[in-house]
Amino acid sequence: MVMIKICFKSVMAASLVVASRSYADFTPEATFDIKKVDLHRLEEGPPLTATLTREEGLKYYRTMQTIRRMELKADQLYKQKIIRGFCHLYDGQEACAVGIEGGITLSDHLITAYRAHGYTLTRGGTVREIMAELTGRRGGIAKGKGGSMHMYTKNFYGGNGIVGAQVPLGAGVALACKYLGNDQLCVSLYGDGAANQGQIFETYNMSSLWKLPIIFICENNQYAMGTSVERSAASTEYYKRGDYIPGIRVDGMDVLCVREATKFAAAHCRSGKGPILMELQTYRYHGHSMSDPGVSYRTREEIQEVRSKSDPISMLKDRMLSNNMASIEELKEIDIAVRKEIEDAAQFATTDPEPPLDDLCSHIFANDQPFEVRGATPWTKLTSTS
Ligand SMILES: *[C@@H]1O[C@H](CO)[C@@H](O)[C@H](O)[C@H]1NC(C)=O
Repeated sequence: MVMIKICFKSVMAASLVVASRSYADFTPEATFDIKKVDLHRLEEGPPLTATLTREEGLKYYRTMQTIRRMELKADQLYKQKIIRGFCHLYDGQEACAVGIEGGITLSDHLITAYRAHGYTLTRGGTVREIMAELTGRRGGIAKGKGGSMHMYTKNFYGGNGIVGAQVPLGAGVALACKYLGNDQLCVSLYGDGAANQGQIFETYNMSSLWKLPIIFICENNQYAMGTSVERSAASTEYYKRGDYIPGIRVDGMDVLCVREATKFAAAHCRSGKGPILMELQTYRYHGHSMSDPGVSYRTREEIQEVRSKSDPISMLKDRMLSNNMASIEELKEIDIAVRKEIEDAAQFATTDPEPPLDDLCSHIFANDQPFEVRGATPWTKLTSTS
């Protein structure tokens, strides 16, 4: 940590001397050594180096910083009781979402559980739409009727509330890809807690038999709801849980490591070899959800240590600065722009009206269905009783 501080200072000093540098002064791309992944039923794994261009680095930095700031804002709005209900924050895990997207394209498909805000952003949602969904407003990405756990965009199937249930749904999406022969794949995400769900093993079997183009990704943030993985799982080697399915265990705090692993996994799927499993070792800074302070089963010191030694945003920032791929002022400008975007979005999310009462029962079906749905048919106009 001390060394990093010195390094920042010297960069700052250098940039004070040269007040404005032209883009030509920056290193356009650099190659970095990345951590070797652990392999299961594989002869070869992803490469041990990764090349990062300046453009990519700036983009990853901005996206990770946007997710971080968005989550911190959500935390604040939740404590002010402006956001209500379930809310699971993603800060600490930013390198997973950004790294995965760096290894596939937006025409591939992605489905996740309830820690969904980051993916909603990387899949094309805007901060405004996400924040307004969190506050249940009309301009939300699900028109204010989904909330934290139920956000969708093109090729993004949520945001799912039932533990583990998104994994078989993801296999269905992968089956559609195979059936259509479009060379696309589905990334199906779950946490270390959900990894113990029976339906996941049923999905492994079916996907393997049918050679579906699916990447099973376990985001292992070390803690399920209120307990550590060691206390709650007989095997914490999540990348081997697919037994007959090849697996890799990856440093989920390094965006480049995640990106290279995802590229490798995607190539495996697209070559017709069927599913592959990826365990991303990551860390959540917040509790499991807003009702969990997050410090009753781990120490504050542990969280502090991860923050200071393995933070995904700091890691990328250090790499870029120490290789002259960006200036500290430039990154600060991005921080300021991000902060402004979040403030504008929060402003919108607290002033946009709620969805009108007579719209509450619509959007249950793609088309109006001619039968009663638990007393809420799309054409029923609700009225207020208060
Ligand atoms: C595996 O999947 C196949 C195809 O869906 C199914 O017929 C079979 O019962 C499954 N086996 C197990 C052990 O779940």
